[in-house]
Amino acid sequence: MASTQAAQVLVASNRGPVSYQVDEDGSLHARRGGGGLVSGLSAIGPDAGALWVCSTLGDGDREALRRGVSEPGVHMLDIPASVHTAAYNGIANSVLWFVHHMLYETPVAPTFDAEFRAQWDSYATYNRAFAEALAEQAAPEASVLVQDYHLTLVPGMLRALRPDLRIGHFSHTPWAPPEYFRVLPDDIAAEILDGMLGADRLGFLTRRWADAFTACCEALTDGLGATRVGVHGLGADADFLRDRAHQPDVADRMDALRAEIGTAPDGSPRRTIVRVDRTELSKNIVRGLHAYRHLLDTRPEWHDRVTHVAFAYPSRQDLAVYRDYTAEVRRVAEQINADHGTPTWTPVILHVKDDFARSLAAYRLADVALVNPIRDGMNLVAKEVPVVSDDGCALVLSREAGAYEELSEDAIAVNPYDVVQTADALHAALTLPPGERAERTKRLAAAATALPPTRWFLDQLNELKR
Ligand code: G6P
Repeated sequence: MASTQAAQVLVASNRGPVSYQVDEDGSLHARRGGGGLVSGLSAIGPDAGALWVCSTLGDGDREALRRGVSEPGVHMLDIPASVHTAAYNGIANSVLWFVHHMLYETPVAPTFDAEFRAQWDSYATYNRAFAEALAEQAAPEASVLVQDYHLTLVPGMLRALRPDLRIGHFSHTPWAPPEYFRVLPDDIAAEILDGMLGADRLGFLTRRWADAFTACCEALTDGLGATRVGVHGLGADADFLRDRAHQPDVADRMDALRAEIGTAPDGSPRRTIVRVDRTELSKNIVRGLHAYRHLLDTRPEWHDRVTHVAFAYPSRQDLAVYRDYTAEVRRVAEQINADHGTPTWTPVILHVKDDFARSLAAYRLADVALVNPIRDGMNLVAKEVPVVSDDGCALVLSREAGAYEELSEDAIAVNPYDVVQTADALHAALTLPPGERAERTKRLAAAATALPPTRWFLDQLNELKR
């Protein structure tokens, strides 16, 4: 851990770059995560005074703290399990995630009751723990980059403790427009906006999300005040992906996948529609399956000639609404297989065990990638597939994904609610002439890698220092 008040650049996020598990023999096992922040921050590194402040997430992390195990450049906060559960599951993933992705519909519409208020107090406690740790660790006039909807109150709290700091906040999600944001209780909506406006600068993945935030401030508070708002699209990490996608474990998984996908009656490999998501409502996996089903129902020419490879990796399974959604995904996939499958053709191959090498294998051999979220801050799958595709891959992309702003010219756009249109888009994607498909993939890859994670990170830092 860096010594008190020494760090020049600090990042704060719920999930840190490493988490620990206690193995059966009692030893601690560190698991390192990937993603834009990890590669972005690596451009600076702990030697240059960078520090990542994150939360303990589970018992393994708490045990690591007890044993004094840590990583250079990482400061894990000892957040009590009950506080974390209320803040992370109760507020961040049940309420704020749903607001920004506009996921409420009648069955899961929120009721803001006394339990919600108690969870909100935990959310504030959780945010305060971050603000205090950052205040203690940051060098004079250091730059602090706070991440995401888990930590919306940190900028304001930190500003009160350390007016000398340059404080940035970055949202990896969409931001809800005012007419949806104000589903939240008035005082809490105001607290969130005030908290965010404690920052010098707020970053968003697209202009659309930045404008929605500004509109919320204009509608519900006195406007942005002195806080600046900027847009930083996050691109795919081309060098990392291309290297990782050509490791032997990925080749092994390609062989296994090809065997699972099998061959069409004419002996050629079946055409393959791939999707890879965390299983979570905004990803719209169920409507994607319904669209595929509609394709099979209405275009018998695809029977036995296409396979839908769907990787739906369980996420946030402590929450019933996410568990139920996972069950629904399985149920719909099984139904399609029961109704359309034959002894030699499985129309949907569903895998739920997270396996990055297998995801890359699927990216490499996909004919079509289906990325159809209801709303998505960016969606990196849409950007990663074109980068590693072997023979070109047609991209069916929701116009509600942040990535759509950069990829609209060469993707096939869909309204994520419209399963008939999505089925037509799948057909168009499957029948795209190979030459055009390859050309589009090349242009998609160029657009997708225009802002690599290091650039995304350093641009924010430079803007904050201006
Ligand atoms: C989104 C959020 C991230 C979060 C990720 C995974 O991308 O913007 O902050 O880390 O989902 O969700 P989880 O709840 O597993 O951290």
